[in-house]
Amino acid sequence: ISRDKIRNFSIVAHIDHGKSTLADRLIQVTGGLTEREMTAQVLDSMDIERERGITIKAQTVRLDYTAEDGETYILNLMDTPGHVDFTYEVSRCLNACEGSLLVVDASQGVEAQTLANVYQAIDANHEIVPILNKIDLPAAEPERVKEQIEDVIGIDASDAVEMSAKTGLGVPDVLEAIIKRLPPPKDGDENAPLKASLVDAYYDPYMGVVVIVRIMDGVMKKKQRVKMLKTGASYELDRVGYFRPGRLQDADALYPGEVGFLTASIKEVADCAVGDTITDVKRPCEGALPGFKEVQPVVFCGLFPVDAADFDDLRNAMGKLRLNDASFSWEMESSAALGFGFRCGFLGLLHLEIIQERLSREFDLDLIATAPSVVYEMEMRDGSMIELHNPADMPDVMQIMEIREPWISSTIMTPDEYLGGILKLCQERRGLQTDLSYVGTRAMVKYELPLNEVVFDFYDRLKSISKGYASFDYQVKEHRAEDLVKMSILVNEEPVDALSMLVHRSRAEGRGRAMCERLKDLIPRHQFKIPIQAAIGGKVIARETIAAMRKDVTAKCYGGDASRKRKLLDKQKAGKKRMRQFGKVEIPQEAFVAALKMD
Ligand code: GTP
Repeated sequence: ISRDKIRNFSIVAHIDHGKSTLADRLIQVTGGLTEREMTAQVLDSMDIERERGITIKAQTVRLDYTAEDGETYILNLMDTPGHVDFTYEVSRCLNACEGSLLVVDASQGVEAQTLANVYQAIDANHEIVPILNKIDLPAAEPERVKEQIEDVIGIDASDAVEMSAKTGLGVPDVLEAIIKRLPPPKDGDENAPLKASLVDAYYDPYMGVVVIVRIMDGVMKKKQRVKMLKTGASYELDRVGYFRPGRLQDADALYPGEVGFLTASIKEVADCAVGDTITDVKRPCEGALPGFKEVQPVVFCGLFPVDAADFDDLRNAMGKLRLNDASFSWEMESSAALGFGFRCGFLGLLHLEIIQERLSREFDLDLIATAPSVVYEMEMRDGSMIELHNPADMPDVMQIMEIREPWISSTIMTPDEYLGGILKLCQERRGLQTDLSYVGTRAMVKYELPLNEVVFDFYDRLKSISKGYASFDYQVKEHRAEDLVKMSILVNEEPVDALSMLVHRSRAEGRGRAMCERLKDLIPRHQFKIPIQAAIGGKVIARETIAAMRKDVTAKCYGGDASRKRKLLDKQKAGKKRMRQFGKVEIPQEAFVAALKMD
């Protein structure tokens, strides 16, 4: 097939604007799958993704489309992750194609991630076709949203395609727009040495690691010996071919402009650096493809088994997750309070939540997660620099010259009636406003914020203040020196290392008081009085006391039958499993998470 009949494109959209539904429609209409096979959304394959309706790993699919001009085209749809945590994966994916469909929900309009994603597509020099989805909804306002796309994003939306991915209306127009308005792959030389981009990789239990590649120059053949420039590893290719809906189709070779897969004896996804350049061992290409970037975790937390006997199970489970997610990293950690566990690094908060959820759901593990923490840079008096991933490891303050914390630049879009509350929230979190503008009745406000103030419950607060209407997007910007102190929490005079945190001095007292108050409610009464204190160094800055009480859970089933009593006791016993012993005090697992939510 000639190159001018190939279209490589991605769909960029804000979460929930209908990207996956549109992808399904394109697969269905081009005859890829039957209705029944469509029920499981093909591109979003992981359970949690499906449940949350978010796309995490980039997937791709190759479709044959016979156009109105009678010609058959090959459409390679690259599905991009829709969430800020996965920005780097988005950009790799975009670099593998020439155009983007910009999907905007016609009843919602442009949102924060619409912007973030479309700017990435523009950076990747993409041709962009704006698409207004959900025009079946009574609340759809296509004309207004077109204006908004022009005003806010600055691209021509006069011939935006109006459609409904739900009813199928307008889907043929989308297909025609893809072949008429998006360009074919730019020149690539079939006779040049092989140069291919490693777009993504995933672990398949039957085939091992499957790598998604985009060929730039040369030909990639079965049995060819290739090497990866960054990692230096070399492999003999087992299979090459295309992604068809729900299956892989073998081919003898992949040519310039094509997107496809390869398998070799690659052990884990971590061996494949996304963005790496793949070339021929004997006849290597000159220079790597530009823009390779190491992904760095930005949020860390400790994960510990509730039951110490589960430690090996936890280790095995994490190994399995890592097979499929190279951006998840960890090292062993031991905590005086929590025993043996792992210090884990994540790309962001959503990433953290997903991994935690998968560990407890897929591997049935009861875990305690410590407070999420960002990476602090410590400039030491002896001239060295330390990266601190865990507040519990904080060196002696006398040795520290300066502590720097990561700041983000963020964009928030919201209906203007919620703006006041949102500004207040950002202000409370030490935010610095850098811009405020309006598009109709929607406000777009930009803030610089310390990531530390965002990692706990910023999303939740933003959503509740705006009744779910505000959207948020951020990028980590730089580390800045701030007046940060380590706050310890003492329960019954014993510091609980898992609850210690770095806070800005100006926020320490408020945070300390809030923590003590919450812990007071979260820790059940014991038979003795329990003081709860927040302290900086030796100085107590907040204190609460849990009064003593004898806890008799069966008291309230006055004389009820014995089986009812037993049930209650069993229930309490099960509850015990989720408790940890701190000195003489038992703290329920939930207390750790709940204690860290701030108002
Ligand atoms: P992410 O995977 O998180 O990026 O979301 P998405 O953009 O893929 O959104 P998805 O396709 O999952 O659609 C979100 C919701 O909107 C789903 O409940 C869809 O059924 C619904 N939806 C999608 N397209 C339409 C449409 O044209 N009309 C209506 N009424 N609903 C739609």
